[in-house]
Amino acid sequence: MSKQRQLKFGAMVHGVGHGWGEWRHPQAQPDASTSFGFYKQQTQLAEGAKFDFVFIADSLHIHEKSSPHYLNRFEPLTILSALAAVTSNIGLVATVTVSYTEPYQVARQFASLDHISAGRAGWNVVTSWLSGTANNFGKAEHPPHAVRYRIAKEHVAVVQGLWDSWEDDAFVYDKQRGEFFAPGKLHALEHKGEFFSVKGPLNIARSRQGQPVIFQAGTSEDGRNFAAENADAIFVSAESFEEAQAYYRDLKRRASGFGRDPEQLSILPGIRPIVGRDEAQVQERYRQAVALVSIEDAIVALGRPFNDHDFSQYPLDAPFPELGDLGANSQKGGSERIKQLARDEGLTLRQVALRFSQPRRDFVGTPEQVADAIEHWFDNGAADGFIINALLPDGLQTFTEWVVPVLQQRGVFRREYSGHTLRDNLGLAVPANRYTHDVLEPATGSEAVA
Ligand SMILES: Cc1cc2nc3c(=O)[nH]c(=O)nc-3n(C[C@H](O)[C@H](O)[C@H](O)COP(=O)(O)O)c2cc1C
Repeated sequence: MSKQRQLKFGAMVHGVGHGWGEWRHPQAQPDASTSFGFYKQQTQLAEGAKFDFVFIADSLHIHEKSSPHYLNRFEPLTILSALAAVTSNIGLVATVTVSYTEPYQVARQFASLDHISAGRAGWNVVTSWLSGTANNFGKAEHPPHAVRYRIAKEHVAVVQGLWDSWEDDAFVYDKQRGEFFAPGKLHALEHKGEFFSVKGPLNIARSRQGQPVIFQAGTSEDGRNFAAENADAIFVSAESFEEAQAYYRDLKRRASGFGRDPEQLSILPGIRPIVGRDEAQVQERYRQAVALVSIEDAIVALGRPFNDHDFSQYPLDAPFPELGDLGANSQKGGSERIKQLARDEGLTLRQVALRFSQPRRDFVGTPEQVADAIEHWFDNGAADGFIINALLPDGLQTFTEWVVPVLQQRGVFRREYSGHTLRDNLGLAVPANRYTHDVLEPATGSEAVA
């Protein structure tokens, strides 16, 4: 009997929250974004519920109007290294940009986290959409969108090449003969490309999961192709079931086009569930979530995919402004989607801003209703799992304590971890080291003379 397909879950641990108003909830911890205690508590909650991974998002440029979490937060690999020490099975996924880092450094940092956590590291590869980032790294200008994806392709290839520097049995530690490693099992990459020149080898071995897992969230044409070719798991922000289904089909088709097995690629929409024990509590909690979004904050938030564009300059109740190609060098896919929706539905600026800031209704309900919605997306080709981005301060707790048991009862989510690495959690094979060739067994008997 074949085993029932299992959901995958990640928790986005996001300090004071994704939006501008979440920190103002009476139960919110205003310093959560720099509180190790908060991150530890949320991660242990997710591990207790047998989540596949926690995810720490990141970006590298702020200004006075950035959201509270952006203003004052942990660097992802640093906080994940600390979390590795207080967890044992949950995957640890960090955003790191390719546009403002060197592959050698990135390869080394993730390999270190992978060792510290005994094979639980994952890299969310981003290209950075805020042009102001250039000013923090001594660059004259932010690379154009298409160039950023060319950088991404080369950067990831170099990092993965460096991760294979040492074959798995390279360190022989032979004290008698004084042989620390087998010289034939150490390999320099000797990379010279369009953007990077890296000789190698890397100064750290592979971990028990071979290489960290690659995550991505491309929306544009270039982003989708990059994700389909390179990622093991893909985040997507989908406005509706239909949109998620279309994205899912498109990405699986593209992955097949790159000669990959589409089942080895997990598509994980980001959702913000609001759960109540009964209908009255659901409504009360939904009301609390809606109250956290003021129109002023929604207008600022709308600017984010457009390189923090100032939308307060336009009349709120007039048709959504004509923006030309604004956003094309920022979150290209996300900004196009907003413009398209405003055009298709003839919306005003106020309507568009609220649509993208207020909680959606899809995953709001009692534990059974939320579990139904999750199963609907999972069973009908819209998701392989989800990344949970809690809205209310106890959002992750209510999801893990109320919804997860329903999904476990229904047999679509694990009750126990079956392995120890992130690859084990996601059902991914350990990639063979590119330099290690299978040693063929010597032919025997009749085969030998045939
Ligand atoms: C769940 C989720 C998490 C994301 N996390 C980050 C992040 O931490 N840092 C970042 O710069 N972008 C993040 N992004 C944005 C993507 O990297 C990307 O910029 C966006 O999807 C636009 O795609 P495009 O580059 O193909 O236009 C995230 C997107 C999603 C859906």
